[in-house]
Amino acid sequence: MYTTSAQARAEGEDVMSTPNGVEPDGSVSSPVHLMNWVMQNKESFKPPVGNKYLYSGADFFVMLIAGPNARNDFHKTNSEEFFIQLTGDIVVKTYENGMIVDHVVHEGETFFIPPNVPHAPCRPEGTLGMVIERRRPPGELEHQLFYCEKCNALVHDNEFDCPDIVEAFRDAMQAFWDDPERSTCGQCGTRVPVPGPYVMPEELK
Ligand SMILES: [Fe+2]
Repeated sequence: MYTTSAQARAEGEDVMSTPNGVEPDGSVSSPVHLMNWVMQNKESFKPPVGNKYLYSGADFFVMLIAGPNARNDFHKTNSEEFFIQLTGDIVVKTYENGMIVDHVVHEGETFFIPPNVPHAPCRPEGTLGMVIERRRPPGELEHQLFYCEKCNALVHDNEFDCPDIVEAFRDAMQAFWDDPERSTCGQCGTRVPVPGPYVMPEELK
């Protein structure tokens, strides 16, 4: 059973398995001023996590995510994702037809990821964006993928079946980076590096 929003707040929870837009008595929640909410929760937008659930409902959830992030894993699931970029420009890398493609999502733009397209949002410092995703049906697998930066080959595919991917992904990517065998490309021998905080490349500015 879901926890009510009041219980979740009292327990300090911020997990996607806990809908927090639902009032205990079933009444309608008050409107939220987005940027005031961001300011009130600014501690949550610091690395390494950088994200917080604005709404976590039974059908879908909404996250606010700040840069910088420092990750080079891609994510794939059978769900759509909708991006609204509020402050600054980000890059969303996708893996399409065997190639990694850089999509620059500028401040004020929206972006859509179809189901089953591997993607990696790269967020420079000072950026803030919103992502809306559907709640996964039971049994829907999440994939965390790593591609070779040199030859674009798939280096590793972690499969997950769990309700809260944020923590699981963070632990899994650290384990991957720490393992020389798993993090080395089987095709060309290049190792997937531990990434630093993302910086927008000059050619994409
Ligand atoms: Fe490679």
